[in-house]
Amino acid sequence: MSSQNTLAVLIFCFLLLSKEGILCSALNRNSFPNEFQFGFSTSAFQVEGAALEDGRGVSIWDTFCSLPGKILGGGNGDVAADVYHRYKEDVQILKNLGTDLYRFSISWPRIFPGGSTRHGAVNLKGVQYYNNLINELIKNGIEPCATIFHWDVPQVLEDEYGGFRSKRILDDYSEFAEFCFKAFGDRVKMWVTINEPSIFSTHGYENGINAPGRCSPPSCPAGDSSREPYIVAHNLLLAHSRAVKIYRSKYQKNQKGRIGISVHSDWYMPLSSSKADVDATQRVLDNTLGLYLDPVVFGDYPSSVKKLVGNRLPIFTEQESNDIKGSSDFIGMNHYITMYVMDNSTAVPAPPMDGPTQDEPDSPEVQDTFAITTSEKDGVAIGPSEGGVSYWRSYPFGIKLLLDYIKVKYENPPVYITEIGYVNLDDGQPLEEILQDTDRIQFIKDTLNYTLQAMSEGADIRGYLLWSYIDNFEWDNGYSFRLGLYYVNYTNNDQRRIPKASATWFREAMNTDLMSGARRFGKSAY
Ligand code: NOJ
Repeated sequence: MSSQNTLAVLIFCFLLLSKEGILCSALNRNSFPNEFQFGFSTSAFQVEGAALEDGRGVSIWDTFCSLPGKILGGGNGDVAADVYHRYKEDVQILKNLGTDLYRFSISWPRIFPGGSTRHGAVNLKGVQYYNNLINELIKNGIEPCATIFHWDVPQVLEDEYGGFRSKRILDDYSEFAEFCFKAFGDRVKMWVTINEPSIFSTHGYENGINAPGRCSPPSCPAGDSSREPYIVAHNLLLAHSRAVKIYRSKYQKNQKGRIGISVHSDWYMPLSSSKADVDATQRVLDNTLGLYLDPVVFGDYPSSVKKLVGNRLPIFTEQESNDIKGSSDFIGMNHYITMYVMDNSTAVPAPPMDGPTQDEPDSPEVQDTFAITTSEKDGVAIGPSEGGVSYWRSYPFGIKLLLDYIKVKYENPPVYITEIGYVNLDDGQPLEEILQDTDRIQFIKDTLNYTLQAMSEGADIRGYLLWSYIDNFEWDNGYSFRLGLYYVNYTNNDQRRIPKASATWFREAMNTDLMSGARRFGKSAY
């Protein structure tokens, strides 16, 4: 490098450092503590396929995908990325990428096609599949992390009592969770009870864009956007708490694993420094992240949510509150984007504190936080749009701010970043273009640097899992949103995996010292 170029790099580093504290050294596995775990996350419905094979039952997502117009491009989970048949090839991909920890979810209807033993026996072929996957991971030095519920409620239970709208789900979920501990807990030492309760409840029951597609009519055929999201959120939290109680009382001592929940949060920043916007930002954080983490850490909902949601928010009994308090050995954090928040308390007439009025608009987020979220300030976007998705703006510094917030507000719990990733819209551009995903590489580098920075300032961060190693079914956005380090060729159900530039970069960053996977696995942070 010429001295002029060196100077330019130094000045660039200085400018970045002074602005937001980015570190400018080469980044790889060695930048992190030895026991820090890198890896990937997926979920059963999004990657497995084999929906009609080996006795799997139907989930609410199979049903939702069959409704016209619900999924961009009209896809479904019948084949997905075909991981059910290709798991051995994929474990080799994960190994080559330098994976320490792989988070997958266990499909509820593949284990219990009828949702529970009340409606038929356990599906042994499904159990065999997860045994095979887990064994293959361990054989290759990768620690398995299993999510028990990643949104695939068995359709039978939805039909029988309304799925997570009913407390009856607690017994059925507990049976499924306990079955997983018994069957796989001798080898799975990291459990996630529930994935992203906030997205499941808001997208499934507030705006209805996800299964089971409920919201207040006429936008949806049935639902109640002002109440059901809170009922579902509450039941998800109780389900988490029940599973943790079972694991801690009957399995943890012998199996020596750890159990937690994975929550989702965007980062939120006030649009201006006015007190009104700052307070609005706190209300939004309370209604999204706090709605879940406050109960899990402190045993109850945030007071601002209780005040603003009134009698639409279910109440924890004393016993439930004691049970849920401290119910996560770690916090799983899923994070993608950052938004500005603007106060809206004067524009919206306040509903009575004890409940909604007849003509309340459909959006609890606006109603219940009196705030508006936006990705623009004075006409300038918070960051460039990711891969052609206009509302998905890249702002890597958001992860640092979120980790700092969790450290301070929740007494520095052990945190795994259980999801983070960068999206590309596939609107038919040439394959070569999709494979040159340099923006994704930059995003990964930046978010790793900011994670490191949060750690150096004291945050207890144990792992960083990307979503994901392969492209997969992105819910209502179908197969047009690609977030993988490997491209999946969906044409004619070929499902071939092709490495993108990010796969090459990640592999090199992870394999610098050729540490054996077995050693990393043995050094789990628990
Ligand atoms: C969150 C969800 O857990 C996962 O299912 C989804 O695909 C990713 N984020 C990307 O949106």
